[in-house]
Amino acid sequence: MFYNGAMALDRDLHVAVAARWAATTGRRGSAWEMLGATGVRGLRVLVESGALDRLLCTDAGGPAAQVLRANCARYASLGATSLQWDARRAIPDGRFDAVDVDPFGSPLPFLDAAFGSLAPNGLLSVTATDMVVLAGADAPATRRRYLAEPVQGRLGPESGLRILLRTLSDRGEASGRAIHPLVSYVRDHYVRVYVLVAPSTGPAPVGPIDSTSWDGPPLRTQGIAGPMWLGPLFDATFLAGLGVPEGAAQAATLGRLLERFTEEQPADVPFYYEPNTIAKDAGLSAPPATDLLVNALRTMGWPTGRTHARDGGFRTRAGRTEVYRAARSLSAAHPDRGSPMPGSLPGPAERA
Ligand SMILES: C[S@@+](CC[C@H](N)C(=O)[O-])C[C@H]1O[C@@H](n2cnc3c(N)ncnc32)[C@H](O)[C@@H]1O
Repeated sequence: MFYNGAMALDRDLHVAVAARWAATTGRRGSAWEMLGATGVRGLRVLVESGALDRLLCTDAGGPAAQVLRANCARYASLGATSLQWDARRAIPDGRFDAVDVDPFGSPLPFLDAAFGSLAPNGLLSVTATDMVVLAGADAPATRRRYLAEPVQGRLGPESGLRILLRTLSDRGEASGRAIHPLVSYVRDHYVRVYVLVAPSTGPAPVGPIDSTSWDGPPLRTQGIAGPMWLGPLFDATFLAGLGVPEGAAQAATLGRLLERFTEEQPADVPFYYEPNTIAKDAGLSAPPATDLLVNALRTMGWPTGRTHARDGGFRTRAGRTEVYRAARSLSAAHPDRGSPMPGSLPGPAERA
């Protein structure tokens, strides 16, 4: 029986996203939690967000299905039902306003059923924990399964997030639809995305990155990376209305995570810089302090903000030359200021 207490924060965020989504649509909708386990995720969204009038939770596992049945039965009056079901197959005649894919490992086996079951303009949420494949530690598997060249090293998890988004974009495109990311993020051992799936109106922002001509943060990769999602990770308006739900299990941590999303959103471009790698590349004796460098770039007019993806990392719309130039002038002006980061995000040990 699968229950992961460490994902409480992630479920808090799901409640927040669902509540915000319902506020934007102005109505309650139906949802399918494809990989339900105990049903805790879908049931929390049903009970706490006010976004749903109907929830179907499925799981293939024998013992899981029994617990799932009992848990959903407790909330039948709110519209919860359960089914023992192989989620690689769509529910016959099933159409849902929201579909959640939260597997062990790769979401790939479930995507056809998920896309086939979404109502027009539906909300699709997807977790991937196959980070060895997505984040570049097994590049042949990334090529084989996700048809992409991963980025290796510290930017690997974000490249995994972007490869997942591109995969979803491709699946949508196959049926004339496009994805619109609302919130997409990297955490300890997984990536997760919330995207709207709506009729396509033009080409998707996906493609390869040629590391030799790329002007963003150095990818430490030879040649081509991707193809991957090159568009935004966040919808600015949606994010602005996201709040910590009442009853959140990890309210303070979620609040800090939302603040960090909000800080990086104006500079929502692929990949982020880190002071130590800048120092190495720019030949500085010590890494510049992130807060000073972020402020310097902002003062120069470049939208810049610390990222949720890595403590000490920041995104900026400035090109690499401007970033390195700003770092060099800071280093000359403040030779004594190294780079301990204020306002660090908590690590996994702090979560219940
Ligand atoms: C990571 S857990 C889901 C966690 C759950 N969403 C939560 O928030 O607690 C993955 C679940 O998928 C179920 N599962 C694996 N393969 C499946 C399949 N083909 N169809 C339906 N359920 C499946 C497993 O039994 C397991 O309970």
